[in-house]
Amino acid sequence: MDYLAFIAELHDRLRPRSYLEIGVRSGESLALSRCESIGIDPNFEVREELRSRTSLFRSTSDEYFESLGAGSPFDGMPIDLAFIDGMHLLEFVIKDFANVERYSEGSTVVILDDVLPRSTDEAARDRHTRAWTGDVFKVSEVLASVRPDLSLVLVDTQPTGLLLVHGLDPLNRQLTEHFDDIVRTHIASDPQVVPSEVLTRSRALTPEKALDLPVWDDLRSRRGRHRLTRDRISRLDASSRQSRSFSRKWRRRTPPDRQT
Ligand SMILES: C[S@@+](CC[C@H](N)C(=O)[O-])C[C@H]1O[C@@H](n2cnc3c(N)ncnc32)[C@H](O)[C@@H]1O
Repeated sequence: MDYLAFIAELHDRLRPRSYLEIGVRSGESLALSRCESIGIDPNFEVREELRSRTSLFRSTSDEYFESLGAGSPFDGMPIDLAFIDGMHLLEFVIKDFANVERYSEGSTVVILDDVLPRSTDEAARDRHTRAWTGDVFKVSEVLASVRPDLSLVLVDTQPTGLLLVHGLDPLNRQLTEHFDDIVRTHIASDPQVVPSEVLTRSRALTPEKALDLPVWDDLRSRRGRHRLTRDRISRLDASSRQSRSFSRKWRRRTPPDRQT
């Protein structure tokens, strides 16, 4: 199953109230949304008809999250569903995930693209192929080790797989705090060593099995029980100073533009 067909089915099952997408390009995945939506991309050129109320931001995801300050993407309402498909380098994806999680609740689902490259060439950090996943495949290992509390569902979609993450905690800062360790341990120069189970997709569920998991109905019915209360928002605000220095640190690491 193609990743867009899978995401369309997931929208049907989850019926999110809010959808945030990092990496829009021509709007193919954004056009699947039927709820209030946000799209972030420094170079989008939307050609698809968007059928929901959508705010588009022509900026990098780092710039977008930094610009929120003490605010939130959906004015206090949590992100129900997010799709992270921006810069295909591990450190960007970890940062995007950590930023999305700040505005999540327990029932939020995050979809990460490009976790199952088809070759070592496609997984290179220094892009030299037309289709490119970069080293995003390492995100499964990083989340499993730094955030064992999260639930991960790896899905064998075409062309390059999806990772679904649920069980988010907006107050968890483990990824931010361990960022330097993650970079030191997981980022390596090319050629990347892509484990055989990634290339053979042996640990991935078929899209049909992933869609049939009862958890999607369960998450939908739990939605709203943990709304961002004023108290929780101010606790998040209290940690925003840490997040801002995190953003500055990230900006210093940003390599020359490598658009996907
Ligand atoms: C693979 S395309 C997105 C495709 C789209 N999600 C879809 O499936 O139809 C990746 C996009 O990410 C954008 N991008 C690259 N770096 C980014 C960043 N730091 N923040 C946000 N978007 C970024 C690129 O401009 C490009 O349009």
